[in-house]
Amino acid sequence: MIIAVDGPTASGKGTIAKALAEHFGLPHLDTGLLYRAVGRQVQLNGGDPDDPAQALAACDFADALLDDAALRSEETGGLASQVSVHPEVRQALLERQRAFASQPGGAVLDGRDIGTVIAPDADVKLFVTASVHKRAMRRWLEMTGREIEISLDAIEQDIVRRDARDIGRKDAPLKAAPDALIFDTTEFDRDQAIAEAIAAVEAAL
Ligand code: C5P
Repeated sequence: MIIAVDGPTASGKGTIAKALAEHFGLPHLDTGLLYRAVGRQVQLNGGDPDDPAQALAACDFADALLDDAALRSEETGGLASQVSVHPEVRQALLERQRAFASQPGGAVLDGRDIGTVIAPDADVKLFVTASVHKRAMRRWLEMTGREIEISLDAIEQDIVRRDARDIGRKDAPLKAAPDALIFDTTEFDRDQAIAEAIAAVEAAL
């Protein structure tokens, strides 16, 4: 069974994907981490994330960074969004995502293009969304909880910028597959979102 979970940043897709994997006993791949590792590697190289050749060169070394704590930062999320625009980077990361999806027994993958490009034949596709304001609030609470000082406004602007880049890019833009279930988490807390997502997947199987 393959479950594809796509959606914009801070929509809750990562939390939902992890919970679905646990519930159904499936391995889980957070594909955003791959793009984050490439963005971080470009940064460590002192390179330019907007340069396709430099971003592609970083793909070979990105694996070693997958456990790097810096991958979770907002800054690295922005770099990931920059390198993920390049078709050569997406191509370089394609096969390992497909291999993960097609392992015996199935898998849960979350990202932006799982239901559209990586696993178009997935058994269940969830497209997780929430209002920009709610997503910014969640990110702000999470960051202030980690004692990172940032304004809600700055986070909201960053989310809008990142959405525009992910939706507007030519190759594998962020969009719901035609057969995806649209799952809006704006009114849900974490536990409700998980419970509703499990129910939605069970109903779709
Ligand atoms: O999901 P996360 O915020 O970790 O992803 C970081 C960035 O990586 C996204 O903003 C997006 O630009 C890119 N990404 C992508 N395709 C994926 C996963 C992430 O383009 N499947």
